[in-house]
Amino acid sequence: MVGARFEEAPGSMGVAMKTHDCGTLRPKDAGTAVKLAGWVQRRRDHGGLIFVDLRDRSGVVQVVVNPERVGPEVFARAERLRSEYVIMVEGEVVRRMPGMENPALATGEIEVVATALEILNEAATPPFPIDRPVDVEENLRLRYRYLDLRRPDLQRNLALRHRVTQAIRSYLDKQGFYEIETPMLTRSTPEGARDYLVPSRVNPGTFYALPQSPQLFKQLLMVSGFERYFQIARCFRDEDLRADRQPEFTQLDVEMSFVDENDVLSLIEGLIAHVFREALGVELAPPFRRITYQEAVDRYGSDKPDLRYDLPLVDVSSQVAGSGFRVFSDAVAKGGVVKGINAGPGKGGWSRREIDQLGEFAQQHGAKGLAWILYGQAEPRSPIAKFLSEEELKAVGEAMGASTGDLLLFVADTRAVANDVLGRLRRLLAEKLGLIPSGTYEFCWIVDWPLLEWDDESGRYHAMHHPFTSPNPEDLELLETAPEKVRARAYDLVLNGYELGGGSIRIHQRELQTRLFRVLGIDEEAAQNKFGFLLEAFTYGAPPHGGIALGLDRLVMLMAGGESLRDVIAFPKTQRAMCLLTQAPAEVDPAQIRELRLRLDPEVAAFKQS
Ligand code: AMO
Ligand code: AMP
Repeated sequence: MVGARFEEAPGSMGVAMKTHDCGTLRPKDAGTAVKLAGWVQRRRDHGGLIFVDLRDRSGVVQVVVNPERVGPEVFARAERLRSEYVIMVEGEVVRRMPGMENPALATGEIEVVATALEILNEAATPPFPIDRPVDVEENLRLRYRYLDLRRPDLQRNLALRHRVTQAIRSYLDKQGFYEIETPMLTRSTPEGARDYLVPSRVNPGTFYALPQSPQLFKQLLMVSGFERYFQIARCFRDEDLRADRQPEFTQLDVEMSFVDENDVLSLIEGLIAHVFREALGVELAPPFRRITYQEAVDRYGSDKPDLRYDLPLVDVSSQVAGSGFRVFSDAVAKGGVVKGINAGPGKGGWSRREIDQLGEFAQQHGAKGLAWILYGQAEPRSPIAKFLSEEELKAVGEAMGASTGDLLLFVADTRAVANDVLGRLRRLLAEKLGLIPSGTYEFCWIVDWPLLEWDDESGRYHAMHHPFTSPNPEDLELLETAPEKVRARAYDLVLNGYELGGGSIRIHQRELQTRLFRVLGIDEEAAQNKFGFLLEAFTYGAPPHGGIALGLDRLVMLMAGGESLRDVIAFPKTQRAMCLLTQAPAEVDPAQIRELRLRLDPEVAAFKQS
């Protein structure tokens, strides 16, 4: 029976207190006796009649309480109604009189004439209006999240999220994947963020770590022979939060055996296309573009380029290497670069003030300056043009595809700084110039990542993805001699400038894994201590395998057209990792701390008392 219930189309489900959903009633239902239940969106009194906008999850319908159709007791009850009261109404669907229709409402051609009305619960005045979009301070919304969630935007976003996860499940089921859960109380997984720790009462002095991802378990599931695994997995990372990061978030986590990169990429392309079709009605056109990491960074100044617009970065080092402008020639002589971006003619020309603002932006983000030229223009022209010869100007303009009046912007610096600053400038310009089309989805894969990157702070190499990523076999002999040159069998999925997911073909042999640990400065003993179980598993017939994880919150956020993960998570946390609704994290009973055999730092205790 339960199964049968779930088979029914959403919205057609009758329950004890309602026969229909408010938002589904249409002219074809005229004459039907209905029982409705929901919230009072608004009550209006008009010439002896009471109109109630009744809302449930499906939408709003107008209920008319006419003293000629109900007894005085019911009418008096209707007079008491206030916003957000919970009521049950019995009545008849009738077509509205011509001219009385409300085209703004899906149910606007009909109304329900009440024959009975019951108040199921009263409601205090909500701290912000539910029925119309008003700008409410976010902290207040989060404090009363259960009311915030009644608002149409969030209702729509969570419905979308539901459709996305259902589409994912049905697609992967058809492709032969098993959904398998992995533990929350586990050991540290090295995704590069700080762990959330949970003290063990039973084993004093020891801690579980909440998983940053199911990475190690999904690899073990491949050793176990499941071949195709997925999980909609909660992950925990104690890192500095931004609009596109939450301390607990959800991944669509996938792992497959006996595959190469193309298998994983085409599975995900098919999945994404299916999800967009099912949940949004949008047709995508896979395969998605593939761009090497180097090309992405060189051309767009980012490893997650927004491809909804072009605005490429252009290297003009060779054109200005011998120039009389020392800033340029010195940078090139020192092994750096001069790179530029053609910002075009602007919106009817560039003012000096606008150009100066771009310069300030570049300096805030680490550039020493931002040189500029208004190409082929006399006034204002450029503070640096006088240092460049006519040939140099022409060569630079040609390289950058410049026409008269285009603003050319340059950064001379190390390659890394020039790319980073110009990448940020590129995004800023796209916004300022209105180059970003809405409602478009530009996916791309970033491939051929470096396996490792040097970290000055620790004086060590770090894995660019994680230490289980397979090196490209062609580069294996460089692993010890020129580690930074080794490419990884890794890939990231990028959508509209956001990193949507990342994954790789994994290492599946014990020797290679140990060798990579060594390059990362993890010696035999440390490796054994932290990942001994994985290394051991690899000795029992581990199949070649690979996979990926997609940020589900980010995916839904982008599909919903939002800019914050909080818009698509029912109970999100603030920038300070707090839940304003439950006031977590919170102090606990000292007895609980004692039981865990922990002691608080006296400084913390003093801080709390003050
Ligand atoms: P990675 O660390 O790249 O890979 O994470 C995969 C995707 O998860 C999303 N994501 C986040 N979303 C919201 N808040 C966060 N704090 C956050 N951190 C990450 C991003 C990201 O692309 N185990 C590997 C995957 C693999 O190799 O298969 C992993 O976790 O969209
Ligand atoms: P200066 O000679 O320092 O007054 O700089 C002349 C112009 O070059 C100014 O517009 C500076 O913003 C610009 N500039 C200075 N350093 C750099 C740099 N590293 N890259 C690009 N432009 C620069």
